[in-house]
Amino acid sequence: MAYTYAYFQQSADYIRERAGFTPEVAVILGSCLGPFAKRIEDPVVIDYKDIPNFLVSTAPSHAGKLILGTVAGRKVVCMSGRFHTYEGYDFEQLVIPIRVLKCLGVRATILTNAAGAINTDYRPGDVMIIKDHIKLTGPSPLRGPNIEEFGPRFFDISRMYTPALRELARECAKGSGVTVHEGVYFFFTGPQFETPAEIRAARILGGDAAGMSTVTEALTAAHCGMPLLGLSVMVNMAAGVLDMPITDAEVDANGAMIAGAFSDYVEKIIARMTDL
Ligand code: HPA
Repeated sequence: MAYTYAYFQQSADYIRERAGFTPEVAVILGSCLGPFAKRIEDPVVIDYKDIPNFLVSTAPSHAGKLILGTVAGRKVVCMSGRFHTYEGYDFEQLVIPIRVLKCLGVRATILTNAAGAINTDYRPGDVMIIKDHIKLTGPSPLRGPNIEEFGPRFFDISRMYTPALRELARECAKGSGVTVHEGVYFFFTGPQFETPAEIRAARILGGDAAGMSTVTEALTAAHCGMPLLGLSVMVNMAAGVLDMPITDAEVDANGAMIAGAFSDYVEKIIARMTDL
């Protein structure tokens, strides 16, 4: 389907009406990172299914709710549950959340995700600030007629993960108790985890963490000039790094282990995001 600017504005108008304020910062919560939502003060909770023209999440650990409120004194909007191509969405549909957040007036977005560590120096529970990504599969979410109100047809993505926000995230890592790296996110479509050979190839190509989300949102944010921070939580070593299969139980347990410290870290970053 060919979207129009008004299509996204309709969703944003509904959300603004329900919330009664304009959020400054958006946080998109990856799988296992749902507990961050409990930190939002005076929350207004909106089911995705009630928002006109929005998508509905089907992933098991994704709640499917937009939560607006206050964190660290800042007005935030939190997506508890996001959309992935493995759920059956077309890449073009995956522009919807970020474009709606843009129309809502959000000034910066923090994308979080759970990922598998390709880099053998990383450990489960570590966090990676995304400095760049590699997406070799699937079309661009920006494919199709361009909507000029959001941005130009052709656009630069060499500074997509905003350098100033990466620097802030590095600063906030100090004394946080979280082990933080900076590296390259390698996108795979999923839903299957990767083959050991795919992970070896990704490592040779420069990938540090493997994941099934984030890149479509990052590209959409870059297109509309939205400042962006990407944070990956390592919930397992990627396929073939250890001589054992990846299990859902391992991913969930590592996600749960880090959720509290990671939430503290994200809150600290939000508190210091002053130059928006
Ligand atoms: N690969 C891709 N996505 C993931 C992984 C992984 O190993 N772990 C959590 N999300």
